[in-house]
Amino acid sequence: MRRPLRFLISRGPTREPLDPVRFISNYSTGTMGQALAVEARARGRSVTLGSGPTELPPPRGARAISIERAEDLRQAMRREAPKADVIIMAAAVSDFQPARPARRKLARRGTRRLQLRATPDIIGTLPRRSGQLVVGFALESADAVARARRKLYAKRLDLIVGQTMNGHGSPFGRRPVEAFLLDAGGKARRLGRIPKSRLARLILDEIDRLWYGGLHANREECPTC
Ligand code: C5P
Repeated sequence: MRRPLRFLISRGPTREPLDPVRFISNYSTGTMGQALAVEARARGRSVTLGSGPTELPPPRGARAISIERAEDLRQAMRREAPKADVIIMAAAVSDFQPARPARRKLARRGTRRLQLRATPDIIGTLPRRSGQLVVGFALESADAVARARRKLYAKRLDLIVGQTMNGHGSPFGRRPVEAFLLDAGGKARRLGRIPKSRLARLILDEIDRLWYGGLHANREECPTC
């Protein structure tokens, strides 16, 4: 029997500790990664989730690895990536972490200086197996396509999903997003304002096209296209 395509999908925010009881994070809810995992399972794919703190239970049949910090996610992705055919980095990884988290709870007093350090670029430094497809996200508020294109090349991605923040409020959670797809050649396909479930279907269609068509033309026939 043909083995299912194996997806590794990260979702949700990360939490970067300030002290044992506090952290910095972002408003991500894991909705986009969840929509991708649901769609991948519906297509019969095997799914492993690298999951930041979220209230969403993993879809039926998916395996979830819970992480908190960007560093935990980095380690989980490095461990799981060699087994994956397709890696989708939908997590809203915190770009910064406190440089020196306190060992004890910080007491409230006057003002404090907080020194932040950039987190490691997880997707850009992941060791790759030849033939793997790697998909990233880019949330941009200005020059979205140009900035996403730079990330596509810098992180050596096969596909990047751009989302623009342009006055419709937060892109996090269940609201539709303004999105576009950028392929490895840097060609943009604008999708307009779109619900995340439909965006997930289009992303999976594109992955199927890349896996079973063009890039990997000699692979077995697509079971769902
Ligand atoms: O934060 P940025 O816009 O650079 O994120 C682009 C892509 O890189 C996303 O897919 C995100 O999940 C990933 N990323 C990462 N490691 C980071 C920051 C972002 O893998 N430290």
